[in-house]
Amino acid sequence: MKELFVRKSVAECEADVERRSGLKRSLGKWHLTALGVGATIGAGIFATTGTAIVGDALRPGAGPAIVFSFVLTAVACGFAALCYAEFAAMVPIAGSAYTYAYASIGELVAWIIGWDLIIEYAVGNIGVAIGWSGHFRELIRHFGLDLPAWLATDYRSAHDAFRTLTAAGSAGTDPVTQYIGSAWTTAPHVFGFPLIVNLPAVLVVAVLTVVLVIGIKESADSNNAMVLLKIGIILFFLAVGAFLIQPKNWTDPATGGFAPNGFAGISAAAAIIFFSYIGFDAVSTAAEETRNPAKDMPFGIIMSLLICTVLYVALSIVMTGMAPWKTLGTAEPMITALQFAHGPPALLNASRFVIALGAVIAMGSVLLVFQLGQPRIFFSMARDGLLPPVMAKVHPRFKTPYVGTILTGIFVAGFAAFANIAEVVDLTNIGTLFAFVLVSAGVIFLRRIEPERPRPFRVPGVPFTPIISIAACLYLMWQLPGITWIRFGVWLAIGLVIYFTYGYRHSTLRRRRNGEVVPEPAEPVAEKV
Ligand code: ALA
Repeated sequence: MKELFVRKSVAECEADVERRSGLKRSLGKWHLTALGVGATIGAGIFATTGTAIVGDALRPGAGPAIVFSFVLTAVACGFAALCYAEFAAMVPIAGSAYTYAYASIGELVAWIIGWDLIIEYAVGNIGVAIGWSGHFRELIRHFGLDLPAWLATDYRSAHDAFRTLTAAGSAGTDPVTQYIGSAWTTAPHVFGFPLIVNLPAVLVVAVLTVVLVIGIKESADSNNAMVLLKIGIILFFLAVGAFLIQPKNWTDPATGGFAPNGFAGISAAAAIIFFSYIGFDAVSTAAEETRNPAKDMPFGIIMSLLICTVLYVALSIVMTGMAPWKTLGTAEPMITALQFAHGPPALLNASRFVIALGAVIAMGSVLLVFQLGQPRIFFSMARDGLLPPVMAKVHPRFKTPYVGTILTGIFVAGFAAFANIAEVVDLTNIGTLFAFVLVSAGVIFLRRIEPERPRPFRVPGVPFTPIISIAACLYLMWQLPGITWIRFGVWLAIGLVIYFTYGYRHSTLRRRRNGEVVPEPAEPVAEKV
């Protein structure tokens, strides 16, 4: 039992840090905030809001009351954010929740979190790639180009739309359903099965993978530019949308009023749009480059959460005011809102172009951040001996962890080709919420076993704050469909099998403590995006 909870000491963590290629402590609190906002605003707000508003076969939608869902989830994330901040400030080394857990709680929990982070980063990116594809298709349409539906959607969406079409007859359905449903009939058939592939989603991941293998260096300045662009796009939508609001869309009794499915709809939607908040925790990965981690880290995490919350709340109010909520259930709800809104056609068309372009860039940057982050988590786990050393292989010329980068690219692109965005988002959310639960529980646990360890930032109100965080995250997990729980259970079980058959025996820490000499892998060069 004790062996399973073996911990990296602070000295061992610092030795890891020293071997790294001199990261400079140059980031201040607003840099960190920009980092958080940059990693957060992406497919969640641009793509998944549609399902949250309208619901799907497995759950009710929130309708215009989606605004309460955004507030509910923000509060849940806020409590978890405080717990992240305590960890990040206490173990101020580059890394993710995996690294903190290894230094504080122990190897088994670190492994579970690391394995779970694959869901947050790689599986999450499958969802972002699919969301990117939908907006890319809209974008090229403005240039008179289009893709056949069977090259731009997934099986489940095509099948569902086809069934709706058959039931209603094409006259009674909207153009989006007609387009997606056409994939089922127009696709080439292989052994009797329609071949439906989301080609743009595959291609964007492939291109990014090549870029990341070659290596990318960008400054905090270019991240700031990206953040301004994201905020600018949302403000643009708010400005145009504000003129197109018809209050009847919020209150129409014919469509169920403001909260057509009551609290059940609000909660179910909260669990979906949790996806749009994922990323603020990425702030903690920059702890080593922060001038004053003790103060700036909690500021950056909480401020980026706050900024995103304000934008999301405003956006959801405007979006549901522009068009009847039942029309918004697509993977491009802002574009759809502009399609159904009443206003000057030239303005609506130009706005759709601006949003599509902005969304493609915004989601592209989220894709990049997570495609970059995943191989570095693999790298840390492989350096610690919990994954095979090949994952820590650094390219001799480019100095990037190329094997992990390529494997991540194949995994994400492979699933993005066929997966349904709602299913992917559900899985990402359950996995990330579970990581939040572990981090929050870790705060209580560490306060018990190491009360005197220096904590530059202390979560106020322990144990109540972490307990509220755990309860809120479990509540959101509970709102997710049963099939998502099964998929997540299988994922965790596979992870445990790998740990006990491989990681436990190859753990660098355990081998070193048993007197073995374990060589260090070369480090990748410090990169920032
Ligand atoms: N929060 C990130 C997004 O919405 C994952 O794209």
